[in-house]
Amino acid sequence: MSVSKEDILKALSTVQEPDLKKDLVYLKMIQDIEINDKLVKFKVVLTTPACPLKEKIEKDCTEAIHTLVDENLEVQIEMVANVSTNRSDKLTLPGVKNIIAVASGKGGVGKSTVSSNLAVALAMKGAKVGLLDADIYGPSIPIMFGVMDRQPEMRDVDGKQLMVPIEKFGIKLLSIGFLIKADQAVVWRGPMVSSALRQFVNDTDWGELDYLILDLPPGTGDIHLTMLQVVPLTGVVMVTTPQAVALADAYKASAMFSMTPLKVPIIGIIENMSYFTPAELPENKYFIFGNGGGKTMSDELEVPFLGEVPIYMSIREGSDKGNPAVIENDTSVQKAFFSIAENVAQQVAILNSLKPEPANL
Ligand SMILES: Nc1ncnc2c1ncn2[C@@H]1O[C@H](COP(=O)(O)OP(=O)(O)O)[C@@H](O)[C@H]1O
Ligand SMILES: [Mg+2]
Repeated sequence: MSVSKEDILKALSTVQEPDLKKDLVYLKMIQDIEINDKLVKFKVVLTTPACPLKEKIEKDCTEAIHTLVDENLEVQIEMVANVSTNRSDKLTLPGVKNIIAVASGKGGVGKSTVSSNLAVALAMKGAKVGLLDADIYGPSIPIMFGVMDRQPEMRDVDGKQLMVPIEKFGIKLLSIGFLIKADQAVVWRGPMVSSALRQFVNDTDWGELDYLILDLPPGTGDIHLTMLQVVPLTGVVMVTTPQAVALADAYKASAMFSMTPLKVPIIGIIENMSYFTPAELPENKYFIFGNGGGKTMSDELEVPFLGEVPIYMSIREGSDKGNPAVIENDTSVQKAFFSIAENVAQQVAILNSLKPEPANL
């Protein structure tokens, strides 16, 4: 008896997307089914190329077909992604699917380090990524990407002059640091900041992006409120160290984002500088800034814990040299940031699926 597309779809409708808790057929994730005698081919369209459950979903599909249709079929699955979005207003940043702010209560906790490595990790997983450095107190993205001397050019698009982001490691970058000198930055006031940010958002040729990462200034001041009115955020990732003072400020910052009328969803917490492991004593962990604060904070706020980043020399060195450390293959640093990028992408896909518009298609 020959196998039909309906048989395959019926089998795949028993496979759940573990995060979205609906079946793959209902979610319209199955495409281009081809059947050739004993060979079945199709595509599974994920909501992010950084999906941590890719292997599980692939395995579940094959098993369902073998169990419910025919155990002798050869199943070839192509895992592709169409990043989901829940943006309904497309007046600002029309080609950008998700805008993720990286925030902290305190400076120096590693917000820019996390922003850069998260952006690079998502791009390495196959996503189209932009990074906007809006930290007027200490714009550090130009140094971390080794593009201090570059100046964004202007381009005529449909009769409008638009700024062109600088490209490095496949990421589109813009920084307040390209426009002002670091020592001028701190005297900036709300209206100047918002007009610069408006230009970055409205007068820039960002093109099509899956994720735009926004490196925010630390703290909870007026400047934040102004910024949050300019940029329609999907959600915010909080970075903290395990240290009590950093945590206290991180709580304050999360309270600000959760406040009406902002109500920006907190995607989760990343703990940076969690511990130090010397190269010569790889089994030892020294909890220099305390232990477990980020995890406790995520439990108390009832938001996901997205991962921890230990203190590594290579992270500091990479930042200073203009090479985000995540690009070094098969290192512990890469593993830590890949896992964080997957968790962020996963939580964004879940947030998107909770909005009334259908995710994905
Ligand atoms: N996990 C880490 N391991 C080693 N150095 C780090 C780590 N995270 C951040 N740093 C270093 O700490 C300093 C502050 O980090 P940065 O990302 O600039 O903080 P912020 O943006 O929050 O002010 C930088 O010199 C950076 O290289
Ligand atoms: Mg910074």
